[in-house]
Amino acid sequence: MAGITPVLTALARGPLADWLTNPRGGVDERALREAVQGRIVLVTGASFGLGEATARRLAHAGATVLLVARTEDRLREVVKDLADAGADAYAYPTDLTDLDAVAALVERVLAEHGHVDVLVSNAGKSIRRAIDASYTRMHDFERTIAINYLGPVRLVLGLLPSMRERRGGHLVNISTIGVRIPPAPRWAAYQASKTAFDVFFRSVAAEATADGVTATSIYMALIKTRMSAPTRTFDNVPGLTPAEAAEVVCRAIVDRPAKISPWWADVAEVVTAAVRRPLEVVVSRRFAVGHQRRQQRPAGSGLPTREDEL
Ligand SMILES: NC(=O)c1ccc[n+]([C@@H]2O[C@H](COP(=O)([O-])OP(=O)(O)OC[C@H]3O[C@@H](n4cnc5c(N)ncnc54)[C@H](OP(=O)(O)O)[C@@H]3O)[C@@H](O)[C@H]2O)c1
Repeated sequence: MAGITPVLTALARGPLADWLTNPRGGVDERALREAVQGRIVLVTGASFGLGEATARRLAHAGATVLLVARTEDRLREVVKDLADAGADAYAYPTDLTDLDAVAALVERVLAEHGHVDVLVSNAGKSIRRAIDASYTRMHDFERTIAINYLGPVRLVLGLLPSMRERRGGHLVNISTIGVRIPPAPRWAAYQASKTAFDVFFRSVAAEATADGVTATSIYMALIKTRMSAPTRTFDNVPGLTPAEAAEVVCRAIVDRPAKISPWWADVAEVVTAAVRRPLEVVVSRRFAVGHQRRQQRPAGSGLPTREDEL
């Protein structure tokens, strides 16, 4: 068994596993340029990870990119890099959990640029924490709902009217595959907040399409960013780099499909719905066994016991 573990690990990290697991990107360079040249694209969470990679990619392809996040230094750094390369980008430091700040952001963006052609709703926060470690942490649920749901909702409410008036625009939601498969232990705060926005977004899309506004929900699997880094179990799971994941966002902007998912998500959704109860029993039994083991570990044993958050 010891001999097979490195082989399995190598396979799990290999390009084949990666191809099987994640949604695919890749667009024709000319098609991307045509889709974004001279267009105004607002990317939230553009200071790190997928948002930063997306902002860079779109700006280099000719878009005017508006970068939103809290970390002002990072935004200014990215904007400077882009400006030095001749691209058009602007930093809008904003805490999206502050709804008045989001309203002010909308007002400023519309005053300075007139409209937004594409909104990439990407900013997010993930918390992986068992419920018994959350009994006194109501703030975990408040902050995930604030950044993964309420802030993005406020932004859509602010930008959609002008898109509908102009009879054009595209909304992109960076969602997670977790909202399409049965809820996993420890992800209550994160998955509930991402599911809330997924449902809001698809409902809005059904209305806005009549006015020429399209919407794409992207169900990402694993992207190797600072968000996923603290979860050690992801180390051996195939994942995209931020630049690869940004290609998936490019595909959303060029092709404008209603959804982009890993190929197996549709199958998994149907199958797991059909066997929901037995699956829940298996998952909760596995969790109970693992949880018991972790609790029996002596403190300072060096084995992972902590919860993950970013
Ligand atoms: N990584 C994955 O495996 C994975 C899988 C599926 C889906 N996703 C989704 O992909 C998106 C991007 O995640 P990532 O992996 O790129 O994570 P990341 O590297 O941690 O980036 C998250 C971004 O969100 C911004 N952000 C967080 N709180 C904010 C706030 N209150 N106001 C404004 N901006 C805020 C952060 O900027 P500041 O800290 O500067 O504000 C940062 O730019 C998220 O929506 C996530 O749920 C990720």
